[in-house]
Amino acid sequence: MPQNVEILHDRAALVARALDLTLAAYREAVAARGQFAFVAAGGSTPKPLYQALATCELDWSLAHVFWGDERYVPPTDPQSNEGMTRRAWLDLVSIPPANIHPMPTNADDPAIAASRYEAHLRNFFHLAPGEFPSFDLTLLGLGDDGHTASLFPHTPALAVSDRLVTVGQKDNRPRLTLTAPAISASRAVLFLVEGAAKAEAVRAILAEEGTAEQYPARLIRGNVTWLLDAAAAAKLP
Ligand code: 6PG
Repeated sequence: MPQNVEILHDRAALVARALDLTLAAYREAVAARGQFAFVAAGGSTPKPLYQALATCELDWSLAHVFWGDERYVPPTDPQSNEGMTRRAWLDLVSIPPANIHPMPTNADDPAIAASRYEAHLRNFFHLAPGEFPSFDLTLLGLGDDGHTASLFPHTPALAVSDRLVTVGQKDNRPRLTLTAPAISASRAVLFLVEGAAKAEAVRAILAEEGTAEQYPARLIRGNVTWLLDAAAAAKLP
């Protein structure tokens, strides 16, 4: 599957390009559909992008923010993707609280939380059974093991194709994650990857080596763009 790959000199250039693409997606979505449905990624890489978005003068009432995955902790936990995104961005802009759609992590059973988020998405996007949401832009990171969102190698979540949201597992700890087909149904998917630690996974994934079980990011299809810094791209031919 040919992928759109852009290699940026360093982190600053990577973040600037990601900001450009995010703002372009916002403008296109608002012009075409009157709203912008964005899926935030967790981890550390996206944080400077969120900080940059916090400085943008946009009509944030037209933006809706979802998450691609969440550690199964309260939003106040330092590990929380929701908490990181709010501190870096959402708390600093005038986005209506109802436009922020966090993954719930307060049910005893993560599977119940996954079902609740799925129901929320189906309601928001008015989905018929079997339909997938059309997020305007889904941001993804990449682990050095080739995982994305909370789709980790050799885990049951990789095989889930009839749901929007499922339970991922990292080191036997539960996470919530959008499924691969739910992510792939996005109008645009943007991988934001930096650092030498990711270079081998990037090389294998773009070369379509190994299996999707080994490199779950390979499950993500559709309109996919990879933004890499020079270090993450160092092993590409
Ligand atoms: C998470 C993310 C995860 C992340 C990668 C890369 O919840 O941790 O969704 O998929 O994107 O692990 O993380 P870094 O950006 O911290 O390298």
